[in-house]
Amino acid sequence: MRNFIVLTLFKEAFSGFIDTSIIKRAIDQNIVNIHLIDIRDYSLNKHKKVDFPPVGGGSGMVISPEPLGLAIDKAYDYLKNDIKSTNDIKIIYMSPRGFLLNQKMSYEFANTKNDYIIICGHYEGIDERIIEKYNVLEISIGDYVLTQGELASQVFMDSVIRLIDGTIKKESLEFESHTNGLLEYPQYTKPILYDNMKVPEILLSGNHQKIADYRKMESIRITKKYRPDLLNKI
Ligand SMILES: C[S@@+](CC[C@H](N)C(=O)[O-])C[C@H]1O[C@@H](n2cnc3c(N)ncnc32)[C@H](O)[C@@H]1O
Repeated sequence: MRNFIVLTLFKEAFSGFIDTSIIKRAIDQNIVNIHLIDIRDYSLNKHKKVDFPPVGGGSGMVISPEPLGLAIDKAYDYLKNDIKSTNDIKIIYMSPRGFLLNQKMSYEFANTKNDYIIICGHYEGIDERIIEKYNVLEISIGDYVLTQGELASQVFMDSVIRLIDGTIKKESLEFESHTNGLLEYPQYTKPILYDNMKVPEILLSGNHQKIADYRKMESIRITKKYRPDLLNKI
């Protein structure tokens, strides 16, 4: 079992993610466990405040290290004492300034026997001392800025969980975009004739070698069109 402990101010943002499709199935089959912790529950403030203006000036609010540190300690306690996980623990902060997530990294996150404590930021982000104290790894899901880490954490978990053994059949992952350095070839399904457009004849030929060659050529064509930079890396 692999554990993903998410520290968030908005637990409700995860209901659709956890309750649907492949992620739900992975949870139901005990391949993964996703456990949500509300950072606000660890506020030391009588009004349950968790964020304060940046010291030194500037706009917005920063999540205070006190509730966040206590929430991280609770996540450790949950993993080691409540569910007695023997996996190593890695703490990740979803952050636009972090290492840029890619498929190779997702495979690495999936294939190590780590549990992940994932911090979702909001406002201007989190107090830097948390990153130092807990040796936090910052991961970005792209070169743009979102309003919240909840969405980013779901992207991270989805990309990793689908690669964990047992979640998806290995054959389905084999020819995906970003797996062999190329983007995926075009896919077709029934009906064979749609709006006067026919599925390419070769796919109906039953000749597996010709189909494989055709798909490889199409992969190269699509990669040239959308991501020519990838071709230099093969
Ligand atoms: C408005 S952003 C904070 C941006 C921060 N002030 C900066 O400029 O780096 C609020 C939160 O959204 C999340 N977030 C935003 N963009 C992200 C990205 N590209 N990847 C991962 N997380 C992101 C982070 O958790 C962040 O703390």
